[in-house]
Amino acid sequence: MNIVDKTKETFALTTPLYYVNDIPHIGSAYTTMAADAVARFQRLLGRPVLLITGTDEHGQKIQRTAEEKGLQPHEFCDQIVPHFVQLWQKLDIQYDRFSRTTAERHHAIVKEFFQRVWEKGDIYQGQQKGWYCVSCEEYKEERELLEGKRCLIHTNKEVEWRDEENYFFRLSKYQQQLEALYQERPEFIQPSSRRNEVLNFVSQGLQDFSISRVNVDWGFPMPTDPKHTIYVWFDALLAYVTALLDKEDKPTLEAALNKWYPINLHLIGKDILRFHAVYWPAMLMSAGLPLPQRVFGHGFLTKDGQKMGKSLGNTIDPIALVDKYGADAVRYYFLKEIEFGKDGDFNETRFINVLNADLANDLGNLLNRNLNMVKKYCGMNMPQVENADIPNECSLKAIGLSLGEQVQNAYEALAFNQACELVLNLVRASNKFIDEQAPWTLYKNGQQQSVEKVLYAVLESVRLAAYLLSPIIPSVSSQIYQQLGFEINFNDQPETAINAPFATHATWGFLTSKQKLGQPQPIFKRIEIPKND
Ligand code: MSP
Repeated sequence: MNIVDKTKETFALTTPLYYVNDIPHIGSAYTTMAADAVARFQRLLGRPVLLITGTDEHGQKIQRTAEEKGLQPHEFCDQIVPHFVQLWQKLDIQYDRFSRTTAERHHAIVKEFFQRVWEKGDIYQGQQKGWYCVSCEEYKEERELLEGKRCLIHTNKEVEWRDEENYFFRLSKYQQQLEALYQERPEFIQPSSRRNEVLNFVSQGLQDFSISRVNVDWGFPMPTDPKHTIYVWFDALLAYVTALLDKEDKPTLEAALNKWYPINLHLIGKDILRFHAVYWPAMLMSAGLPLPQRVFGHGFLTKDGQKMGKSLGNTIDPIALVDKYGADAVRYYFLKEIEFGKDGDFNETRFINVLNADLANDLGNLLNRNLNMVKKYCGMNMPQVENADIPNECSLKAIGLSLGEQVQNAYEALAFNQACELVLNLVRASNKFIDEQAPWTLYKNGQQQSVEKVLYAVLESVRLAAYLLSPIIPSVSSQIYQQLGFEINFNDQPETAINAPFATHATWGFLTSKQKLGQPQPIFKRIEIPKND
């Protein structure tokens, strides 16, 4: 198979494929919002993008949950999947593929991949003894367990003892190759704290892991021994590859790897780092396939300082949150307030304060106030000023000229909070600029040209801010753009390609005196803090 590296021309990225044992919670929404922001940013750069999300439906956890509900596993999965689809719609997630591990074409990919690894001699039969966490779908070392035989992530569930015949994957064989990978490509695992975790884990010596089950029916049968089903993680990681197939493609590895492969970015939470940064590359090495470019493990969300979890009953329903505050508010809070890679907290009062301060006051009022001044001082005509009339020393232009590049670096590093801060810096400087320049006084003194220069500089800064924030708050940015007279909607579907290329729109000075402005309207309503809080 001849696979050409497409990572420079195209950009394929993935969210984890979510377990369907329950309806989505805010943790699943978090990764997906981040992935969507990355995808949208790459699209602005003009790159063809493929955003893959989906659901992980096999395995014991799902089988048991379905049994508890008195349903066949496939019926149960079919009931849960629409909840994910609905949430992604509500959150304005522009995904390109929704990969379900129960899809028939996925079965074909798993069989072909399994065959390659089998022929390589990397699968053998053995006896698996150990403690299994069904919620993680993972064997745990005894030393990793808490008191009462509970795993660190699912502290309310006991692990289960297993002693059974399984097939194993020769992970240990790839120890050196993996170590070389981490050394040669230090950017492979990010952020660096996660890379260190992986280096530490691998340095303790890798053990082969079992990739089949005899006690679970809900899975693909193992091609070489159908009494066994394929371990859910072996199957699920491969669904990233299946998702690369176009609708009309035959389900073969060759077709799947033809257009978007290797994948540029796997976005995951820190609990599933080992699978993505150790097992997955080793599986690909065994199958003789190129590796993804980057694996980024983000932190966990907590609520009011406590770890969020079903057992504590403190999870947040993302649907309710979006219904109450809107998609942009939710996207903005989680991406701006939490450093991507670190754990982060949700607190409703802080949520409201951040949105009021940044979106309602700093950004929203700036646009509104400025458009109203344009109305008053220029009769709603665009100020008769061009970019060239504004000196480079103008404080807003000085910030604006290098902003696009800085924000690009921040998005590429997945530092969404930094991207927002950089943009807010221009927004705050614009508010200060109006106060200092006092166009109302200039107007009174008959200095019309100076008034128009001030208003131009601020309008242009708001435009640039809206553009650079559009991957995070696409609806607010679209409203700003429309009030500035552009027929651009950042929520247009990717196939219709938004005509707002980064090369022109991310540069300060794009507005011209010919622009026809729209009517000023509030873009983000202040949220009142509930009295009983
Ligand atoms: N099915 C596997 C992934 C297979 S990928 C081939 C899985 N699914 S999951 O639904 O349990 O978790 C999906 C993602 O949600 C993980 O990246 C996990 O880190 C993330 N989160 C679950 N709870 C979370 C928080 N409280 N906070 C942030 N993210 C968390 O694992």
